[in-house]
Amino acid sequence: MEILLDGKKIRDRIESKVKKRIEESGIKPKLLAISAGKNEANRVYLKVKREACRRVGIEFIHIDCGDAEERDILDEITRGARDDSVDGILVQLPLPNNIDVSKIMESIPAEKDVDGFNPENFGRVMVGKPVFIPCTPKGIMTLLDSYNIEVRGKDVVIINHSPLIGKPLSLLLLLRDATVTVCHIMTKDIERYTKMADILIVGAGKPGLIGEKMVKEGATVIDVGINRVGGKIVGDVLFDEVREKVYAISPVPGGVGPMTVASLLENTLKAAERRRCLKKG
Ligand code: GUN
Repeated sequence: MEILLDGKKIRDRIESKVKKRIEESGIKPKLLAISAGKNEANRVYLKVKREACRRVGIEFIHIDCGDAEERDILDEITRGARDDSVDGILVQLPLPNNIDVSKIMESIPAEKDVDGFNPENFGRVMVGKPVFIPCTPKGIMTLLDSYNIEVRGKDVVIINHSPLIGKPLSLLLLLRDATVTVCHIMTKDIERYTKMADILIVGAGKPGLIGEKMVKEGATVIDVGINRVGGKIVGDVLFDEVREKVYAISPVPGGVGPMTVASLLENTLKAAERRRCLKKG
């Protein structure tokens, strides 16, 4: 029987730890979430983040900039940056096309950048001294560690090269001495790579992309895809056929998604502690 990488179970454990730490320390962390544009998925993600914050005792403030200009979003970030009661700032992605995402990310002060998208935090991952690690890669690493899945010396194939997932995740895996291959939309013959992976991490946004024939026997498969198909949420991996062949597999929903949110809670608590000088590193 394959191991089910149960993100909800690990999320619950992380939430208990964060909640306990908040209760014991008396800190009341505050997270500011900024969004813009009309994106149904973002509305759902922000609701999930708000509920998770409520469960652990983090105050969650959401500013919806609607169809505002880049300048208005930058102004909201500046307000949050100057507000001493705000510990973390996140800008929900994607933003509308007229907005320069890198300019937005650069404007979030590094010490409040709980998503880890600011170039300083990104660079810290690069040099092996991370402070805030982007939430999805952090969640994936925690999920692997929670099930004692060793990455050192393993062939890891990631299908995703975005700044949110593939780029930071490849660095985190390299820091842990994995051999990492990053595939993307321009990769010729993806199957050549997926078949050799000890650990396959897929976030292509293509339902049914990974079938049983594309996976090595005994591999670990992490599905980062979130696709709506016929009113149901599915990943990029054909779960029912791939599970027969693997050592471990994460489901969708209930795999990486809850881990991303749990990582945001951890990062927000860390920001609050660092700002109060309760935590080093
Ligand atoms: N959109 C998809 N994933 C993320 C994330 O981790 N953080 C933010 N801010 N937006 C996202």
